[in-house]
Amino acid sequence: MTRIIYINGEWLPESEAKVSVFDRGFLMADGIYEVTCVLDGKLVDYAGHAARLQRSARELGMVLPLDEDGLLAVHREIVARNGMDQGMIYLQLTRGVADRDFAYPPAGTPPTLVLFTQAKNVLENRAAEEGIAVALLPDLRWGRRDIKTIQLLYPCMAKMEAKERGADDAWLVEDGHVTESSAATSHIVTADDVLVTRDLSHALLPGITRASVLELAAEHGIRVEERPFTPAEAVAAREAFITSATNFVVPVVRIDGAVIGGGKPGALTRDLRRYYIETRRAAAI
Ligand code: PDD
Repeated sequence: MTRIIYINGEWLPESEAKVSVFDRGFLMADGIYEVTCVLDGKLVDYAGHAARLQRSARELGMVLPLDEDGLLAVHREIVARNGMDQGMIYLQLTRGVADRDFAYPPAGTPPTLVLFTQAKNVLENRAAEEGIAVALLPDLRWGRRDIKTIQLLYPCMAKMEAKERGADDAWLVEDGHVTESSAATSHIVTADDVLVTRDLSHALLPGITRASVLELAAEHGIRVEERPFTPAEAVAAREAFITSATNFVVPVVRIDGAVIGGGKPGALTRDLRRYYIETRRAAAI
């Protein structure tokens, strides 16, 4: 089935949805994005994703061409037009079309806003059942990872390097501490059952799933420390997991050569995945 794409106020079949070669997203990676999960045809954790999009735009001096209600309406309409039950909505906003120049185009240049859907079975996920392996790699990304920009070459390189090493993904390390995964937040559980996740800063993306998981941990009396952790702590952890919009909570059972939790998803990780799906599914809009 051909998808229906949203592009600058129009709804077009994917074969007709086109962006200019002069788009600043194409030429300069001058753009931001969001990924929102769809479950039962509804938007999961939508408020967080909408707020982070606004923040990314603000940080880069970009203006969203839709107001809050308009943005929600477009998200809902793309689900309806594509008859989507499960998967993700990808949204990309760039600084628009202009001659190639390092200086931004004049104020008032219309931005480019694109949304498309991508189907994914988010509930039945082998990685969630069995856990994934990660490789530790240096974090060579830029210094404002708190902004969700479309410049993703290094995360792609890290993912490929991880795969070459026989792992599923990369955990990135900077100044002796784990920052995050190539496209997810990294967490560990210590031997005395403390959930450790890095505190927010310019070093990592403020994950929306991370925020929900921390809320759920508090509700269930799980002890949490928000602080950087080292690769040595990670390999010695009782449990490890990642969080992201379409993965929810996925266990990590191997970090480089080290087997975590006997190679099986940990109990706390499994609980958090269940709590996340139950509560965020019920609250989806
Ligand atoms: N990735 N850190 C990075 C670098 C990410 O790219 C992502 C999300 C996250 C988790 O954020 P959230 O819980 O809000 O999805 C953390 C998305 C899903 C992607 O690029 O496909």
